[in-house]
Amino acid sequence: MRHSLISILTLVALLSGCTSAEQKNAINQDDVIAHLSLEDKAHFIIGTGMDGLDDENVVIGATRLLVPGAAGTTYPLDSVGIPAIILADGPAGLRINATREGDSATYYCTHFPIGTLLASTWNADLIEEVGAAIGNEVKEYGADVLLAPAVNIMRNPLCGRNFEYYSEDPLVTGKTAAAYIKGVQSNGVGTSIKHFAANNQETNRMNNDAHISQRALREIYLKGFEIAIKESKPWTVMTSYNYINGTYTSESRDLVETILRDEWGYEGTVMTDWYGGKDGAIQMWAGNDMLQPGKKEQFDSIVAGVRSGKLAEADLDRSVRRTLDLVEKSPRFHGYQYTNKPDLKAHAEVTRQSAAEGMVLMKNEKALPFAKSIKNVALYGNTSYDFIAGGTGSGNVNHAYVVSLLDGMKNGGYTVSKELKTAYEAYLADSKKNIEAEMEAAAKKDPQKAKLQRFLPKPLPAEKTFTDGEVMAQAANADIAVITLGRLSGEFQDRMVADFNLSDLERKLIEQVCDVYHKAGKQVVVLLNIGGVIESASWKDLPDAILCAWQPGQEGGNCVVDVLSGKISPSGKFTMTWPILFTDVYSARNFPIDEDPRIDMMKQGQKGNVRNVDFTDYEEDIFVGYRYFDSFGIPVSYPFGFGLSYTTFNYSDAKVVKKSDGYEVSVTVNNNGGYEGKEVIELYISAPENKAANKPVKELKAYAKTRNLKPGEKETVRLFVKMADLASFDETASAWVVSGGEYQFLVGASSQDIKAILKADVKGQETKVHNVLKPLVQMNLLKR
Ligand code: BGC
Repeated sequence: MRHSLISILTLVALLSGCTSAEQKNAINQDDVIAHLSLEDKAHFIIGTGMDGLDDENVVIGATRLLVPGAAGTTYPLDSVGIPAIILADGPAGLRINATREGDSATYYCTHFPIGTLLASTWNADLIEEVGAAIGNEVKEYGADVLLAPAVNIMRNPLCGRNFEYYSEDPLVTGKTAAAYIKGVQSNGVGTSIKHFAANNQETNRMNNDAHISQRALREIYLKGFEIAIKESKPWTVMTSYNYINGTYTSESRDLVETILRDEWGYEGTVMTDWYGGKDGAIQMWAGNDMLQPGKKEQFDSIVAGVRSGKLAEADLDRSVRRTLDLVEKSPRFHGYQYTNKPDLKAHAEVTRQSAAEGMVLMKNEKALPFAKSIKNVALYGNTSYDFIAGGTGSGNVNHAYVVSLLDGMKNGGYTVSKELKTAYEAYLADSKKNIEAEMEAAAKKDPQKAKLQRFLPKPLPAEKTFTDGEVMAQAANADIAVITLGRLSGEFQDRMVADFNLSDLERKLIEQVCDVYHKAGKQVVVLLNIGGVIESASWKDLPDAILCAWQPGQEGGNCVVDVLSGKISPSGKFTMTWPILFTDVYSARNFPIDEDPRIDMMKQGQKGNVRNVDFTDYEEDIFVGYRYFDSFGIPVSYPFGFGLSYTTFNYSDAKVVKKSDGYEVSVTVNNNGGYEGKEVIELYISAPENKAANKPVKELKAYAKTRNLKPGEKETVRLFVKMADLASFDETASAWVVSGGEYQFLVGASSQDIKAILKADVKGQETKVHNVLKPLVQMNLLKR
């Protein structure tokens, strides 16, 4: 380190010894940089390495320094008063270890609902409130940056991390993320919007080259990031693992410097995903400021790069400055005295309220809310007794408890069948023992595979079976049956088609219970405790009601019962399409589907040539989700934006008015049913017919949610669409182009339930942007 004793003393005094907030807020970056050697700089922009990748409990990020279980820390420069700051996962709450060696205190965090459920609320205020509660735990447990939100597009239902993500639509994604970021950051801690960009499959995520047209990148895969980043200024952005069109995202200057910073005006810090990218010097040059958790090769490459002139020291200094900016904002730099005692009770209440609002009522034939006469509930399905709070991997949260549906029912004043409870508990204990034994035997056979297996969700036990006689006896004593189906997925592995479809035992259980209960004159409700879309078309006619509860966090059972009992009227809507068959999804032909799916860990830089593994052609182009199904007239099981309520709504007085920089649509929504409830109003735009423009028939451009309306109450909502929002990306002109002509403004309750069609003449406009991120290969892109 190049420095004199006097200047170090001055810096230390300036940085840590002073008491006034003004002095503490300032790092004299020029002075700090002047005191750092090349090696210091290279250390500083690399994390502190990873402790214990071999540890039994580790996910990926798990450092034992400062806050045990946090994903990483920045490198401390003690001699110039720059502390290490703490980076911790992940979207559904803070992920740190719940217990510490030699310490009897516990450090449990609240498991909030998964990202998909939060997005399904379509309620920015509520999402911001959840974000604020999560951010409070980040701050009170001594962390500085939460590695969330995760905002990749749900390109295909089988992506193993869809539960962390928000939607197939970039507007819902961007708006949900913006609200979440504002909430978390309102505590004075940071976020890291991730994974920038196009990490849409887990299979070979470290090496997969996503071949995507410039248009699909701009309109679909980057758009959600753009909206969230411009609206909420996250402290950091995390680049993804994959390549886009031949370049690792963390080594792509076009992505990071040109688009993110130059075009979007982003001023924060960019970091890699854990171990992402291969060449540290190129990552620095590309504008990736911080390499987490740090590898020796990256350090060596940066130092050698500067020495050889391959990397300009100015580029390294720029990243050092941006990392200093981050440290300077952090609670730890300001000496915040965290308590390690966030108000977990208050946060449990926040998670309970929010989860109920994101559940989606898919079907209801007078079964819900439960009639007053319903007292005894028969609970079927393993998951009723072993409720799933959230997914696995870095998106998991070390929570203190999960309220099962069984306990939720009891808390709600219902009686549950004791025989069923005893039978299920015995069956589950046995099945789990068998699963453990099988895993142990497999580990002995193939220790390498076993090592990877422990990063993955444990297999769920097969559904318990019953004889018809048993079900009949249960039906005689119960007022209603609830069957819960569960799914669990997570990082490192995509789901299988078999996981999308129902198993034979699940199907049989639904058929049998519905048949027996209906014959006994009783109703059946199916509850979905899942993290991603499953097949629903073949069985949805059987039960009387279906509620998608997603993975609702630690208060799960209570939240479900709040909805089933009618305490809360469901108001969630789907942020993704539910196809009839998996193969109806256009990207099914370009997605890794494997009977024995690969587990992909930290192997980088290995380029093979296997389709959908080493590279993936995004041939559906911009036709993702409803943009495909609605444009090509493909029938679906449940459309994008769908969700029922206990009440009904009438839409009236829809109007569109031209404003100086866009269009305002207003519509009055009247609760004309018998319950209170909230309604989500969706505004789609249909551009003038123009074959060459190859546009989807409709695209969501704005949405709003009413307040809780009592029967007979109404609310007029206003939705604003900026001129620029009407643009599509024209690759030939490398510009956002609004073609002139008559546009339709479709006011809907879902993408396929349009309540009013308004029209407006729109003047064309064009905004040029950089011509970057071009695919290197020809693809057979879908055209309308
Ligand atoms: C995940 C990130 C996570 C990081 C740190 C990676 O494996 O992709 O989402 O933030 O680990 O745990």
